Amino acid sequence: MCGIVGYVGSRGAQDNLLGGLRRLEYRGYDSAGIAVIDEHGTLDIRKKSGKLRVLLEDLAAHPMADGATGIGHTRWATHGGPTDANAHPHLGDDGKLALIHNGIIENFFALKDELVAEGYEFSSDTDSEVAAVLLGREYRATGDLVEAFGRVVGRLNGAFTLLAIHQEQPGLVVGARRNSPLVVGLGNGENFLGSDVAAFIEHTRRAVAVGHDQIVAITADGISITDFSGAMVPVEEFEVAWDAEAADKGGWSSFMAKEISEQPEAVANTLAGRITAGRVDLTELAGIADVLRSITRIVIVACGTAAYSGMVAKYAIEKWAKLPVEVELSHEFRYREPVLDSSVLVISVSQSGETMDTLMAVKYAAEAGAHTLSVCNTQGATIPRESSAVLYTRAGPEVAVASTKAFVAQVAALYLFGLHLAALRGTLGDAEQAEGAAGLQAIPEKLTEVLLEGERIEQLAHWMADTRAVLFLGRHVGYPVALEGALKLKELAYIHAEGFAAGELKHGPIALIEPGQPVFVIVPSPLGSELIHSKVVSNIQEIRARGARVIAIAAAGDVSVLPFADEVIRVPLAEPLFEPLLSVVPLQMFAMRLAEAKGLDVDQPRNLAKSVTVE
Ligand code: M6R
Repeated sequence: MCGIVGYVGSRGAQDNLLGGLRRLEYRGYDSAGIAVIDEHGTLDIRKKSGKLRVLLEDLAAHPMADGATGIGHTRWATHGGPTDANAHPHLGDDGKLALIHNGIIENFFALKDELVAEGYEFSSDTDSEVAAVLLGREYRATGDLVEAFGRVVGRLNGAFTLLAIHQEQPGLVVGARRNSPLVVGLGNGENFLGSDVAAFIEHTRRAVAVGHDQIVAITADGISITDFSGAMVPVEEFEVAWDAEAADKGGWSSFMAKEISEQPEAVANTLAGRITAGRVDLTELAGIADVLRSITRIVIVACGTAAYSGMVAKYAIEKWAKLPVEVELSHEFRYREPVLDSSVLVISVSQSGETMDTLMAVKYAAEAGAHTLSVCNTQGATIPRESSAVLYTRAGPEVAVASTKAFVAQVAALYLFGLHLAALRGTLGDAEQAEGAAGLQAIPEKLTEVLLEGERIEQLAHWMADTRAVLFLGRHVGYPVALEGALKLKELAYIHAEGFAAGELKHGPIALIEPGQPVFVIVPSPLGSELIHSKVVSNIQEIRARGARVIAIAAAGDVSVLPFADEVIRVPLAEPLFEPLLSVVPLQMFAMRLAEAKGLDVDQPRNLAKSVTVE
């Protein structure tokens, strides 16, 4: 759960490394550090606990000699607190080698005992330093960094991406990965390494994904990849679809504000080229067409916001494709011996494509004989690479820790999938397919309208800045939206928030209602079942009677809630299945504005990291 970068070329390494770290800071921000081989061939490192800003200030105050080869790291602590000593890089071979690490080395205690017995000393509490010292020992034995890596990786259990440089081999950065991400950026007379493409996107869009259990070596004008046994692996280049501007904040107060505003585009891009004349056609899934015709069950695995997008999609896929769909948190899924075989399609949903819990669920499913499909936002990420097929969302880079545009893009992609599946299985007539496709195509414009509510929501958030607890209620597809609204508020504003299925209220949660308790209610679209709509209106009356302060998220023109709601936030009228793509937005904006009103950092909430690459 750390960001790592590497550079080798002819320009100064420091600027490249620090620029890459700035873009990767979302992966962890407990501490940061760089190592550079300077022009005299000496290895220098600088590392500081705290955000990247602290390291930058230190380097400005005490400049470090620059060179053309270096590595950099931004940390999310796992082993050892966020101190200067535990920050990366770590040193080996008497300070001549520097190493950075993302992941967890599970057998580091045993390795450390072995090295201590041989007289090696350690200056941190991290598992990573063990890898640095071990690599230093193997370098002394072989005199070659790539060969030393080959010896070390076989000794490590767990998940890791490692990058290292050695002052005796300037102009070379070597990396290895197992279950943690690593991508190469191919430049002109220079090459880059990064946890993801954002690390180098301002310099190049030509990239190579390093595969599972592979070692990569880059020089200024070359790259070579081998597997852990030393066999050469072909280098497969791809072009990154994002541009540098997309990965930047571009004038907004925060990445989150920018990403919320990008939702119309995120959905439009996700739909682009996938609907023709009212029919969804996902050419990227052509290779699994027979699988999609033959499966009897779908299981969606995901975590956090991605899981809520899966919960929304369950309603649509079951309705359109007439297949049972279960949604399960990835970390629960593989520990309960789920019944899986080749009649099951396991769909993983992940913005980053690196969430370890989801990756492990995918691997478990594949081993059990199920088919796997990844719905992912990040090209070259591990989960799509481990899956039999991939449907990319095209939300662009999501940097803020709180997921926003990824959610709407995931729902859009899963809906496309549902319509595609229904067409393949013949469960939906042409007219219904066209209706579904049109419903999706109308979303970008409607999202633009929802964003106009921003000012009112900001006002509401200011009034509620002292609120201690907020409840969210929804029914049918509104239920996962309620859960997502509560998650956003928890993670951003550190306020106790709970989402409930409105029908569950009377089974317990209604006891929480006391005078003044704010409750957001996602009112179902009046275009859908009157029964569902009227039941939620009754729920509103029940909580209002007990003193709740009701904030209704309701479709334009729905006057039924007016007598019972203290506030009504309007979203454009849409068919019920499409409403979550709209009603989630006010909840995102509310959480962001409330956090801002409390003076909190909305892009990097405490204790969290963007991509959770540990189990
Ligand atoms: O990268 P992923 O979509 O797999 O991430 C899954 C969750 O960790 C993520 O959605 C998390 O819940 C967000 N912080 C929510 O805003």
